[in-house]
Amino acid sequence: MPPSPAIATALLAWYDRHHRSLPWRVSPAEQAAGVRADPYRVWLSEVMLQQTTVQAVKPYFDAFLTRWPRVEDLAAAETESVMKAWAGLGYYARARNLKKCAEVVAADHGGRFPDTVEGLKALPGIGDYTAAAIAAIAFNRQAAVLDGNVERVISRLRLIDQPLPGAKTVMRAAVAEITPADRPGDFAQAMMDLGATICTPKRPACALCPLSDACLARAGDDPERFPVKARKSAKPVRIGAAFVAVDGDGAVLLRKRPDRGLLGGMTEVPGTDWRVVEAEAPDDGARDDVLVDAPFPAAPFPADWEPAGGIVHVFTHFELRLSVYRVRIDVHPAGVEGWWEPVENLSGEALPTVMKKAIAAAIPTAFPPRRGR
Ligand code: ADE
Repeated sequence: MPPSPAIATALLAWYDRHHRSLPWRVSPAEQAAGVRADPYRVWLSEVMLQQTTVQAVKPYFDAFLTRWPRVEDLAAAETESVMKAWAGLGYYARARNLKKCAEVVAADHGGRFPDTVEGLKALPGIGDYTAAAIAAIAFNRQAAVLDGNVERVISRLRLIDQPLPGAKTVMRAAVAEITPADRPGDFAQAMMDLGATICTPKRPACALCPLSDACLARAGDDPERFPVKARKSAKPVRIGAAFVAVDGDGAVLLRKRPDRGLLGGMTEVPGTDWRVVEAEAPDDGARDDVLVDAPFPAAPFPADWEPAGGIVHVFTHFELRLSVYRVRIDVHPAGVEGWWEPVENLSGEALPTVMKKAIAAAIPTAFPPRRGR
């Protein structure tokens, strides 16, 4: 096995030529010219990138920075407008923590992010991964950064065949062993880029890989077998119904979800509770039993509701199958919770993806594709 410095040297030389150009990144050439990474941008990008792709994050990152260029601006923003700007990225607890974290940095740290792993981990919404990533990328700390791409690279490089998630500790130690004191932030991002572009889950491009001579999986095994993952049990299924009411002017009845709990404080169309059913989600992805076959569920007001199909949305801990009903009415019924929002304003509402899917099932033209996305 080549000594660790040789691995970092080879990887950084590759990164200098082949790094991805990303809006939150300071390139090696810019760094050489004295440009430093802005901890606010690094933090914002890392929180957005948790469990979301680089492509999906880019427009959100640009929109946040234009609207809230400094951490103090985000700290002073209305939580509601931050939630709206976040809508579509998913995992809304992260948006609430993002706002809280900005407030803590602005109020308790004079607008400057702490520059150590431990200091960063004390902030809301910052765990092991994010603390290490910010410490390395924004503050040049020699922190071992382990995300999904890095897990794949390191498990192949060092032939780590213990299954994830248990193997994280071993993997992090293996990454620490090759992380250099010089340019640890570029090294971390180089590992991520290598995993995203060369050391891919299927058909890795080993012939192009700067680490192929050192890679134990390539030498003796099948790289695609790594990382080994513990078998996941199928997700439990919940079912429910969503009601899309449209008035004569084309406005849709919306309401706000309770502040606490799943999708807390976000906007929704009226619906039933989401009830746990016995069946587990089929592993084969079959989607033919979406509709609730129970007697017609409680609608927000009596009307001629008609079925508008079903949608499926997969959350972290369960799969939700919603039956969608729609109605057109001329007169707003009295005593109904919520407000009527013109359909053309829906994109500006804090609607989580599951609710956008439900509305689109009832009103196919509700969310025209955005240009440039
Ligand atoms: N995924 C998470 N953080 C990243 C980064 N800084 N660069 C590329 N991909 C990433």
